[in-house]
Amino acid sequence: MRLDVVTIFPEYLEPLNVSLVGKARARGRLDVHVHDLRGWTHDRHNTVDDTPYGGGPGMVMKTEPWGEALDDVLASGYETGAHGPALVVPTPSGRPFTQELAVELSLRPWLIFTPARYEGIDRRVTDEYATRIPVYEVSIGDYVLAGGEAAVLVVTEAVARLLPGVLGNAESHRDDSFAPGAMANLLEGPVYTKPPEWRGRGIPDVLLSGHHGKIARWRRDEALRRTATNRPDLIERCEASAFDKKDRETLSLLGWAPEPGGRFWRRPQDVEE
Ligand code: ADE
Repeated sequence: MRLDVVTIFPEYLEPLNVSLVGKARARGRLDVHVHDLRGWTHDRHNTVDDTPYGGGPGMVMKTEPWGEALDDVLASGYETGAHGPALVVPTPSGRPFTQELAVELSLRPWLIFTPARYEGIDRRVTDEYATRIPVYEVSIGDYVLAGGEAAVLVVTEAVARLLPGVLGNAESHRDDSFAPGAMANLLEGPVYTKPPEWRGRGIPDVLLSGHHGKIARWRRDEALRRTATNRPDLIERCEASAFDKKDRETLSLLGWAPEPGGRFWRRPQDVEE
């Protein structure tokens, strides 16, 4: 997979050299190119922004440097044999970045990221490239960052670990929380490793039992417990068929009640606590 990032802070993308993404690059699974947007300015001050039409606070990133940058990045990528580019535009106004979207992006051969500073990029830039290639406007969460660079790091890491040959074990992401088709989209429960006792704290006996069925059941119960506490919306979204008999017992013990259709809802008194 080829990745291009156009930014006014190339040094912000240094983490792409380390850890998992760095290894993916070293193994030839990822071909990363970081570009300085100011390289496509032509004035003494390397201006990339201007005041917004219609007034209002902040500055808007200008069309010309982005247009020239993206034309050059596309041309040089095609020249070196890259194909199937898609633009990924990090913005708090984008669609939520989910594991499902990470999987979709991981199947594309070439991603071009356009992290913006200030109030964002003049709309005509995305409109223009959307006539040529797929454009994904992506938000990594309901909060506003000072720029899209951190979002690029987030998206890149989530995508890179899905590429074949990047994670040691091909099965490692099958059980990820949020993996499409994961067990009813539950969060993963707690995990433990040696030593068997630390500061007076032991390991749940069942994990030492060697009984695979019981261990799987315990993991499922813990996943339900953690999901019910931290992400009740995920439980509410589950079809009735996502839960077996033991799930239903566990959820009832946690203060959840089935509605006639079989989906689970928090009992009102528990919502208020
Ligand atoms: N840029 C600023 N805030 C952002 C967010 N939440 N997601 C993606 N890009 C952003």
